[in-house]
Amino acid sequence: MKILNLYAGIGGNRKLWGDEHEITAVEYDEPTAEVYKSYFPNDTVIVADAHQYLLENFNDFDFIWSSPPCPTHSDIRRCGVHAGQYEALYPEMGLYQEIILLQNFAPKDCKWIIENVRPYYDPLIPPNKKLHRHLYWSNFKIGNFQVTDDRKHSDIQGYSEVYGFDIKSSSIKDKRKALRNMVDPKLGEYILNCAIGSMQKYEQNTLFSL
Ligand SMILES: C[S@@+](CC[C@H](N)C(=O)[O-])C[C@H]1O[C@@H](n2cnc3c(N)ncnc32)[C@H](O)[C@@H]1O
Repeated sequence: MKILNLYAGIGGNRKLWGDEHEITAVEYDEPTAEVYKSYFPNDTVIVADAHQYLLENFNDFDFIWSSPPCPTHSDIRRCGVHAGQYEALYPEMGLYQEIILLQNFAPKDCKWIIENVRPYYDPLIPPNKKLHRHLYWSNFKIGNFQVTDDRKHSDIQGYSEVYGFDIKSSSIKDKRKALRNMVDPKLGEYILNCAIGSMQKYEQNTLFSL
């Protein structure tokens, strides 16, 4: 399968996807992209704006995963503004632009998923799945993955090893954030398998209707 992994980070969601796919990862922070490349040397890693890359390339992939940045949507922002720690910011509408683009223009046989945190407001587009603290918009069914409690994430430091990733010696500025940003690799694998299952169903239905 041709897979597009947008806002790739250091590759939490990608970790268990194996080496049988042709994967393109887009990440705009160079040190982060370098760490990703060191863990997944067979992937094509592009240092660019993932939002623009999606617009120009959404027709070319069998599976698209997008993890747009969550800080302007998360409840942490809302609480921080009320506590006087953060300034108020407009929620980043790129999230909804990507959902609308893929809902309306993705090729029929392309499976896609966009993930983000549960926002502090009612989501402008209803998600297809809620799991723990995250929402998922997708064009295939995602089952009930048992998300394990991620409270230990609050203990994560830049020197921690998380999901087998050790980035101590990298030049990533905020290592703690890069580690905390990661999607659980098992969830990444589970969601890819849901997409593959749904593709197989689609192919079978197409065969039977011939
Ligand atoms: C939530 S993290 C992704 C985590 C990743 N999915 C994982 O499981 O490890 C978001 C990443 O997007 C990157 N990023 C933010 N805005 C971007 C943009 N416009 N284009 C490309 N990458 C971007 C950040 O540097 C960060 O590494």
